[in-house]
Amino acid sequence: MDYKYPTRQTASSVVDGSCEEARLYQVHANCLQTIMASDDAFKVSSLKGKVALITGASSGIGAGTSVLFAKLGALLALNGRDVENLNKVAKQCTDCGAAEPLLVPGDLTDEETVKKTVDQTIAHFGRLDVLVNSAGILAMGSIETTDLAQYDKIMNINVSPGVIITDVHKRAGLDEEQYAQFLAKSKQTHALGRPGEVEEVAQSIAFLASDAASFITGVNLPIDGGRHAMCPR
Ligand SMILES: NC(=O)c1ccc[n+]([C@@H]2O[C@H](COP(=O)([O-])OP(=O)(O)OC[C@H]3O[C@@H](n4cnc5c(N)ncnc54)[C@H](OP(=O)(O)O)[C@@H]3O)[C@@H](O)[C@H]2O)c1
Repeated sequence: MDYKYPTRQTASSVVDGSCEEARLYQVHANCLQTIMASDDAFKVSSLKGKVALITGASSGIGAGTSVLFAKLGALLALNGRDVENLNKVAKQCTDCGAAEPLLVPGDLTDEETVKKTVDQTIAHFGRLDVLVNSAGILAMGSIETTDLAQYDKIMNINVSPGVIITDVHKRAGLDEEQYAQFLAKSKQTHALGRPGEVEEVAQSIAFLASDAASFITGVNLPIDGGRHAMCPR
């Protein structure tokens, strides 16, 4: 059958059900319902019952991922250092209908805290299925100005996507004007011509944590708007 996606105009045609386009719109809706109800769609749209420990859950990518995982039915253990922010994110999760997340605050540069965070999660839920390690910091500098202590501080905690709009750069010392310039420059440093949004990283993390990615392991997946494929700056 010839198929075309409905336009804004066809949606209004559906209201009086008077034309062929309205019929096509209905077919489209039926197709969507069938797809959404299928097992294949379920795999990419559900983390139902999976236990996920999310670090960096009090801000930025970790916070956005926590809320998305909550919507997808995961059981959550949330780590960060700022307990007030962790509570705010936990509330956003329960507002989406999720079970109350377990809060496991603490500084992950401390090895004992790392161990305690995992142990508490397993003691509470009985298992751990997914770790999203989004805790991290940025520090400004170059190879000429960075000392070993600063290098170690960063490497002890970090992950790295492309430029994603969060507070991390301002926390590392950029003022509003410098940050605006940095985001403008991202138009050249990313193949897609823009920095990314938290939601775009969270969706990719949710895919990797879902059963749809059941034969993926040990990969590095750049979620960076093609930045890795661009010329060095
Ligand atoms: N956004 C970007 O463009 C970008 C670019 C490159 C790399 N990254 C990396 O992506 C990850 C997420 O970044 P983001 O943009 O979401 O940053 P963000 O908004 O600043 O959030 C960072 C999170 O990490 C937590 N954290 C930092 N140090 C910690 C520690 N020692 N122990 C426990 N938690 C700690 C913070 O917790 P508290 O606030 O509670 O202390 C916060 O929840 C980080 O690893 C970052 O370096 C981001």
